[in-house]
Amino acid sequence: MQAEDAGRISPSAMLEVRDLRVHFQTDDGLVKSVDGVSFTLDRGRTLGIVGESGSGKSVTSLGIMGLNTGKNVYISGEIWLDGEELVSAPPTRVRELRGRKMAMIFQDPLSSLHPYYTVGNQIIEAYRLHNDVSKQVARKHAIDLLGRVGIPQPSVRIDDYPHQFSGGMRQRAMIAMSLSCDPELLIADEPTTALDVTVQAQILDLISDLQEEFGSAVIIITHDLGVVAELSDDILVMYAGRVAEYGAAEDIFGDPGHPYTWGLLGSMPRMDRERTERLIPIPGTPPSLIRVPPGCPFHPRCAYTGLTGGRCDTEVPLLREVVNFGHHAACHLTDDDRTRLWAELSAGVVPAEAEIPAEAKFEPGTGVQESPPDYEKGSPVGGAGETVSPSGADS
Ligand SMILES: Nc1ncnc2c1ncn2[C@@H]1O[C@H](COP(=O)(O)OP(=O)(O)OP(=O)(O)O)[C@@H](O)[C@H]1O
Ligand code: SF4
Ligand SMILES: [Mg+2]
Repeated sequence: MQAEDAGRISPSAMLEVRDLRVHFQTDDGLVKSVDGVSFTLDRGRTLGIVGESGSGKSVTSLGIMGLNTGKNVYISGEIWLDGEELVSAPPTRVRELRGRKMAMIFQDPLSSLHPYYTVGNQIIEAYRLHNDVSKQVARKHAIDLLGRVGIPQPSVRIDDYPHQFSGGMRQRAMIAMSLSCDPELLIADEPTTALDVTVQAQILDLISDLQEEFGSAVIIITHDLGVVAELSDDILVMYAGRVAEYGAAEDIFGDPGHPYTWGLLGSMPRMDRERTERLIPIPGTPPSLIRVPPGCPFHPRCAYTGLTGGRCDTEVPLLREVVNFGHHAACHLTDDDRTRLWAELSAGVVPAEAEIPAEAKFEPGTGVQESPPDYEKGSPVGGAGETVSPSGADS
């Protein structure tokens, strides 16, 4: 069902983001943190947003929550939450929806726990703000939540202040606070990075439980493709504030359409190797969002620019459907080239057409020409293809 909202057609999905742009004016120039991001998320579904540091993942989620505020921020596009457009909505309305309909688990737990109030009081107040219940009922609910996120002796620790909690416990307490109102949309920004593996698994289970229980829509933001592989129905790969690739998780892992995604998949740790080992490193670093490279923003780091007749560094690639319905990638490669290259990479061989990317030729500060050892053409690259199973494990 679609409804009219001020003359615009509102979508039926729980969340639809259309051409979102979030730019910050700074002394150094305009930072285009999010530059034309669109996606849809239905109830009961999970979207994984992945990308390297600085690609605009957090700014996108803060934008949805209405938390990119200040005089230096320019926001455009549309954010539809359950049929209501939020970019043009009054801030009071967005504040009302925050906590009641949508909640966020923040990347930095300290930023959302107040040092002067006990952990319990903060969860109780967050719950009572949107639920007409007594303090006792809210306290019981808070103890239950703290127990569910793995805080030991929750009925005692509920009266601790944030500084009495370890970093991991603060993260868990904040997750409890975010879940306290059973949000219909939950955004979890790197929810597990500060936690040990066992607690990570508990937290991810908890998010899945919530989703099953309440049919919530969930966005999980992470660097770790392994985390989103486990949980996501769809994946959005961000690069330099834009969407590089977007589609169903099985398509992104099974038949990725963008060289950046190939790099991320190649970097994914495998169960039989050291967790930190990067199998095929993506050379160089993400660009400054003040000076985004012209054409395809990934071109200084891409090995396949030679295949597109010079378009990569002059023409911005549009996000277009590749492989199958609903699977989009922003890349100039032809379907034939893309299919052939991925077939070779997934067989563990560096394609003959791969060239050393501009950023890999020069090691900053040394003046030394660098040829990454993995770029010997036609050679095996440590099993790139074996890294693509969604679980990250070899089959
Ligand atoms: N308030 C702000 N003013 C100016 N620039 C900002 C502001 N907030 C974010 N940025 C810039 O926007 C870019 C994207 O930031 P963002 O925090 O979304 O990255 P991210 O993908 O979440 O990275 P990470 O994985 O490290 O968390 C960065 O270059 C960051 O410096
Ligand atoms: S458009 Fe060109 S530079 Fe960008 S990912 Fe595709 S091949 Fe690489
Ligand atoms: Mg972030």
